[in-house]
Amino acid sequence: MRILVFASGRGSNFEALLNASSRGVLKSKIVGLVCDRDCNAIEIAKKNKIPFSILRPKDYAEKNNYIKELISITGSYSPDIILLAGYMRIIPSELLDEYPLKIINIHPSLLPLFKGKDAIKQAWDAGVKETGVTVHFVNDRMDDGLIILQKKVAVPNSLEELEHEIHVLEHKMYVEAVNLVSDLFIVVSKCLIGENIRYDGSNKLSKRIYKYVNGYRTECLLVCPEVLAGLGVPRSKINIINTRLISEDGVDLTDVMKRTCKDIIEKIPQNKMVLAILKDKSPSCGKTEPQGLLVSMLREHLKDRLLLLSETEI
Ligand code: GAR
Repeated sequence: MRILVFASGRGSNFEALLNASSRGVLKSKIVGLVCDRDCNAIEIAKKNKIPFSILRPKDYAEKNNYIKELISITGSYSPDIILLAGYMRIIPSELLDEYPLKIINIHPSLLPLFKGKDAIKQAWDAGVKETGVTVHFVNDRMDDGLIILQKKVAVPNSLEELEHEIHVLEHKMYVEAVNLVSDLFIVVSKCLIGENIRYDGSNKLSKRIYKYVNGYRTECLLVCPEVLAGLGVPRSKINIINTRLISEDGVDLTDVMKRTCKDIIEKIPQNKMVLAILKDKSPSCGKTEPQGLLVSMLREHLKDRLLLLSETEI
């Protein structure tokens, strides 16, 4: 995978990623650095002969022109993923559209606690007994989005010690998280990439999901438990009654659907982190109420190995 790093400051996470990449611990290549100001991260890039770009929003009278340039410069590095390493800006939604689930951030707290600047000091001032580090997919809100990895640190006796411990952890954890993401096993509801299989016969093409899945075709399992169970396309409506799935003509489909979900789960490798992007509000897939059968079985089977999103969250 080709990694592009965005940074605004000291660059210790950038440097740790570079070191891990040259030792082969990070199984991806760092192809460039983009900064929003002159900062130490650029010196690190120069020392390591990594191409870099500086793009200062304040140099642009029109925000749109800045965003266009940001997209163009980012594209010039052809990145597979973008890592924010102390990049202190909200990512514009236009860039998120270009790189769905490909932009990742590291933050020095146990999110959702202590978002924003000086998170380590915020935790210290709040007097918490433990804090930590979070690596997460980026969305259009600050320090928000699906959590990939989170680790705790017990708060020691001084702020300086806490800062040191957090940074040591960050440098290891970012590498671990990026390796996990570059080797994800992906499960996606077929209807979300436009396959015509929902009960009303229509599809729910999500451009972002389609784009994301296309980049990962080979490791991606496209699923529709209802079609697998032989319910036909389009199928008739299914009602959830006391956790049972009942067809409109009163047939209890729960057991047959459980078997098909089990077949799907058997196709998932034992040792991989799984990202499931599932059609919401569906008796088979649905993440939220009514919670689908596949979601609950994936949760039970995969536990910590499951990253779960519905179509509205990507
Ligand atoms: C890191 O602690 C990183 O987690 C934090 O900025 C620091 C950058 O240090 N990021 C955020 O607070 C994001 N909201 P570095 O420049 O030495 O890597």
